[in-house]
Amino acid sequence: MENKLMVAGPTEIEQDILEIGMKKQQYNRTPEFADKLGNIQEKLRYLYKTENDVYILSSSGTGAMECAVANFTNTHEKVLVLSGGTFGDRWAEILSAFEVPYELISVPIGTNITVDLLEAKYSPDIGAVLITANETSSGTKIDIKPFGEFLRDKKSILIVDAVSSLGADEIETDKWGCDVVISSSQKALALPPGLALISVSDKAWAVQGKSNHPKYYFDLKKYKLNLSRNQTPFTPPISLLYQLEERLERIFESGIDAVVSAHESRSIYLRNRLAALGISVFDQNPSNGVVGFDLGGLFGAKKMINILREHYHIEVTPSPPPHDDRIIRVGVFGAVGNADIDELVAAIEEVLGPQIGGRKCLDSVTAISA
Ligand SMILES: Cc1ncc(COP(=O)(O)O)c(C=O)c1O
Repeated sequence: MENKLMVAGPTEIEQDILEIGMKKQQYNRTPEFADKLGNIQEKLRYLYKTENDVYILSSSGTGAMECAVANFTNTHEKVLVLSGGTFGDRWAEILSAFEVPYELISVPIGTNITVDLLEAKYSPDIGAVLITANETSSGTKIDIKPFGEFLRDKKSILIVDAVSSLGADEIETDKWGCDVVISSSQKALALPPGLALISVSDKAWAVQGKSNHPKYYFDLKKYKLNLSRNQTPFTPPISLLYQLEERLERIFESGIDAVVSAHESRSIYLRNRLAALGISVFDQNPSNGVVGFDLGGLFGAKKMINILREHYHIEVTPSPPPHDDRIIRVGVFGAVGNADIDELVAAIEEVLGPQIGGRKCLDSVTAISA
C-alpha cells in the first residue's frame, strides 16, 4: 500500500497530471514550443497577479532563493532578513555564502511577524528586505502587504519567498509592491519537484546591475532576454512544463481566488479537528497550505510520525530541528480532501488514546512503537 502524502511537498498529484509527464518530448527551440512557453507565461502572470515577467528555473525552491540573492544583493549594501524559523534562516545562510552584510530579525517559531519589526530596524541604506510569506516549519503566515506598502516609496526592494504560499495563500505581487517573488512546483502547484519560479519588478531590475556576485546559470539577464522570444536560456525540464501548463489551465479555469479558498477551507477543517482533540495548533496567522501543531509533552512527534507512516500509511512531517520531536506539520496541498483529513485525525486520535486531555496513549500503540 502506498502512503498518502500529507507533507509540505511533494504532494499527491492527480493521475492524469502524472501521466502528462510521460508524454513524448518536444524540441524546445521551435515556434510551437515558444507558443507553449508564451501561454505558460501569461498564466503565470495571472497566478502571481503581476504584469512582470515570471522566469522559470530548473531547480528546487532553494535555487530560486539563491538566484534572488545572486541577482539582487551585493557585498557592500546591508540587507534585512525577517525570520520565524528554518526557511527565514535559510535566507541568512545564503546571504552568508555570498558574503552579503545582513541583519537577522528573528521571532520564536509560530509567532506572527508584523511590519513594526521592520520599521524599528529600517534605515535608508538597506538594499533589500527578505521575508518568507509562509514559514513552512510551523505553518505561520506573514501578511506581506504592509511590508510592501512600507517599502514602496523607498529605494529598498522587497524579496518574498512564496514557495509554500503561491496558490495556497493570497499573494498580490503588484498590488502589494513585491519586487521579487519566488516559488516552486512541489507545493500548492501540486507538481513534481524540480521547477522554480521568480518574478522581478522594474524596481528590482533597476538594482540588478549593482549585484557584484559571480553568476552564470542563474544570471536573470539571460532569462529576460530569452523570454522576450518566449524561450529559456537553457534546456528546460520539458515534462514538468507540460504538467505546469495543465496545472495553470486548471487554476485559470477555477479562478485563483477559488483555489486559495479551497486550501483555506481544508486547513481550517484540519485545525478545528485537531483543536477539538485538545492539540495545540499554531494559530497565530496560520497559513492555508501547512498546518503546524505542537505535541508538547503529550507524545513524541517522531514516534507519532513513524506510527502514522507504518501503521496508517499517512506521511506527515516533523518541523526541522530543533523542534523535530515536538512539532508536526501537515500539508493540505494537492489532491487531498476532507476525507483524507478525517482519516489522519482519526489515526492521531487512536494513537493518543480516548482520553486526549488525560494524555493517555493506547497500550497497543505504545507496544507497536516500543
Ligand atoms: C518557505 C520555503 N522556502 C524554501 C523552501 C526550499 O524549497 P526546496 O526544498 O524546494 O529547495 C521550502 C521548502 O519546503 C519552503 O517551504
